[in-house]
Amino acid sequence: MLTNRVKIAVLVSGGGTNLQALLDAQRAGTLHSGTISLVVSSSPTAYALTRVAEAGVPALTVSRRDSGGQAAFEAQLTAALEEYGIELIILAGFMSILSRDFTDRYPERILNVHPSLIPAFCGKGFYGLRVHASALARGVKVTGATVHFVNEIPDGGRILLQKAVDVLPDDTPETLQRRVMEQAEWILLPQAAELVSANILQKETETT
Ligand code: GAR
Repeated sequence: MLTNRVKIAVLVSGGGTNLQALLDAQRAGTLHSGTISLVVSSSPTAYALTRVAEAGVPALTVSRRDSGGQAAFEAQLTAALEEYGIELIILAGFMSILSRDFTDRYPERILNVHPSLIPAFCGKGFYGLRVHASALARGVKVTGATVHFVNEIPDGGRILLQKAVDVLPDDTPETLQRRVMEQAEWILLPQAAELVSANILQKETETT
């Protein structure tokens, strides 16, 4: 039985349903190699903050606008991550772009969930409902979700997990988003969090 757990920070901007999936996995014990130690929101009004308050996890807001630019925003974010001893960062609907300066500091230590099968419908400008609207406009019959490591290229890091989801004839961006969340994102993200946390613990054991 492992007593040591990888300290995870979850970065959010909106509803926080993926954060909820991670909190639920932790409660259920399927996420056990890592522990959610901090939640950072880019918006003070994100509903994700209500979810995290209910779970009793420390949370704070760091916004690029209030910080006064990208460098100051990332400095504030880094200070918070260091203060909490964070070893793994999970972007769960986090809508602020992170610079190369930031991503280079955490190689293969930042995960992101994206609501399509990368390389389709990804990169700059593809986020949230826009991804699903684009998939419907293109007429694809299958879409899905991807969990990948984050590097300096938007949605360009190494792919870890993917799951396909059917597009149905009467789908709207909203119905498709919900199905992709239920059938893919909320399953893949906790799986990836456990997988990567277990790998980090394993490497720590090998080097001690
Ligand atoms: C999710 O569908 C997530 O995949 C997407 O935003 C939504 C956030 O929902 N992320 C992106 O589009 C990033 N490119 P949530 O706040 O309820 O987890």
